[in-house]
Amino acid sequence: MLSQSRNELLTQVGAGTPMGELLRRYWMPVAGVSELQAIPIKPVRLMGEDLVLYRDLGGTYGLVDRHCPHRRADLSYGFVEECGIRCNYHGWLYDETGQCIAQPYEDTAHPEVDLKARIRTTAYPVAAKGGLLWAYLGPLPAPELPDWECFGWENGFRQIVVSEIPCNWFQCQENSIDPVHFEWMHANWSLRLDGRTGPYAPTHLKVDFDEFDYGFRYKRIRADTDEQDALWTIGRVCLWPNCLFTGTHFEWRVPVDDTTTLSVSWFFSRVPTESEPYVQPDDAIPTWHSPIRDPATGRWITTHIMQQDFIAWVGQGAVADRSKENLGNSDRGIVMMRRQFFNDIDVVTAGKDPKGIIRDATINHRVALPVADRKLLTQGLSRSELAKDERAAALLTRFPWQAGQPEAVRQAQAAAFGIAITNQPLF
Ligand code: FES
Ligand SMILES: [Fe+2]
Repeated sequence: MLSQSRNELLTQVGAGTPMGELLRRYWMPVAGVSELQAIPIKPVRLMGEDLVLYRDLGGTYGLVDRHCPHRRADLSYGFVEECGIRCNYHGWLYDETGQCIAQPYEDTAHPEVDLKARIRTTAYPVAAKGGLLWAYLGPLPAPELPDWECFGWENGFRQIVVSEIPCNWFQCQENSIDPVHFEWMHANWSLRLDGRTGPYAPTHLKVDFDEFDYGFRYKRIRADTDEQDALWTIGRVCLWPNCLFTGTHFEWRVPVDDTTTLSVSWFFSRVPTESEPYVQPDDAIPTWHSPIRDPATGRWITTHIMQQDFIAWVGQGAVADRSKENLGNSDRGIVMMRRQFFNDIDVVTAGKDPKGIIRDATINHRVALPVADRKLLTQGLSRSELAKDERAAALLTRFPWQAGQPEAVRQAQAAAFGIAITNQPLF
């Protein structure tokens, strides 16, 4: 249970708020590289700031204030030039540093004034990594953009999926350190949604949590596993500060504002060994949008794993009221995570780097993370091994994670695997 004021500390993300300042120390994924190749300008709302992400004709990325400094027109309706983004109202042009570099009428009629030299808009650094575009809104110099090892894994079919979730980011992130919900939310609830009453999934007997440089690990033993199981010896990762990492995928919970979160996930499906080498360039990773509401009923979609998580998050309210919660022993990881955030808020206030920041470029190369299914993901299995290994097949040859996968993406994965792939829901 938390007081209202402590809850606000965790949940408010605007510029100048303690958590807003903390989160601005980290790079945030905001789009897929392939999205900007298709349409070079994308409006982005990030931590309460309205911005425009663009890729100019010269291939440079920029992230600038959505409103033109001239008379506030919407730059998401502008157009890109060889260098920069141009406002569609009077043609003022801005480069990726935010500097105004052309004002067609002023430059023609009053070049001696050189008004543009005095016009600069808000602009933030953008970088590409792993097929994602990342933004950094904090003080310069920016830290390293983490080069997680899986961005270098080979022979994988990757896809990026985004969903807008109408609730605060922190309740989404608390789901990154919540082992018990798998049993109920994904296994048993799916069974009931499918019209069956049992048997229920093996129950959790023991959970544990520990900390490492880049986050926390949660570990579980269920009635059907023991202490040799990789989900106990290695576990899964609550990646700092706003991500879940399972080996097969990342799920970032990117704060749009205090009551909206952009879920950005990055999936890696290792192709069967017979399909190697499989090369998917970063800029060819498909990015697609996954809806959360069923237009036919107006209710939340329940058929896919992450859609189920989304239902839990939005069900907690626009901003979960933690003064009314009652935590149990299974919530020890959540308590550890909150304590670390409170600590990091103080660290940032003191002018230091919070947890997980990488400043040394020499260590920022394929940074290793705990991966329970490492062999499967890095060495791969043959088609016949995949067919025999139910767990591996479930991880790699299906897409039960998010609803709305485009048929073209399913077909691309099937072609990469050389076998049929299903994106059928859980039930
Ligand atoms: S409002 Fe953008 S150029 Fe005038
Ligand atoms: Fe979940």
